[in-house]
Amino acid sequence: MIDHVLISGEAIASRLDSLAREIDAVYAGGEIRAIGVLKGSVFFLTDLLKRVKTPVTVDFLQVRSYAGTESSGNIQLVHDLSMDVEDQDVVLFEDVVDTGRTLRRMLDLLSSRRPRSLRIAALLKKELPENADIRVDFLGFTIGPEFVVGYGLDLDEKYRNLPCVAVWNPKKGATP
Ligand code: PRP
Repeated sequence: MIDHVLISGEAIASRLDSLAREIDAVYAGGEIRAIGVLKGSVFFLTDLLKRVKTPVTVDFLQVRSYAGTESSGNIQLVHDLSMDVEDQDVVLFEDVVDTGRTLRRMLDLLSSRRPRSLRIAALLKKELPENADIRVDFLGFTIGPEFVVGYGLDLDEKYRNLPCVAVWNPKKGATP
């Protein structure tokens, strides 16, 4: 059901090299509390942080918003952080900003815990009016509205381990 590769693994790797340099420039001399939004961000977070030279600590949150290919709008906090973020320089990692509902919820939650700073890193942001208010500080790629899988993004938990980002098309029977 994969239509075509949208972003190759090589293009992602090259972009991550640049993002790591941007992150190191912003946090020079400091430390980062990296927070991944499970599960989709794991591939992006680990591959990017392996390139970052600034000291990091890592924690995870889990929320759930999708059923099949549709964002349900009902954001459930499934798993909370294990560490306090007060006075920390926090970077929140997402695989994709779609409607932006998940990030808005996460930003509200984390802001209330008084981090020193709070920035967003996302592999993908869909170009949609619904998420225009969300500023991603460290962004991999802007994409269109199509449903994509791979590099952490799933369809009913499948395809996360594709090394690329691919467009999913239910009408096409091809395999990756
Ligand atoms: C997906 C994705 C983002 C969110 C983006 O998570 O990983 O967290 O949806 O959508 P939004 O901008 O419309 O809120 P999902 O809830 O599917 O969980 P997953 O990371 O485990 O796939």
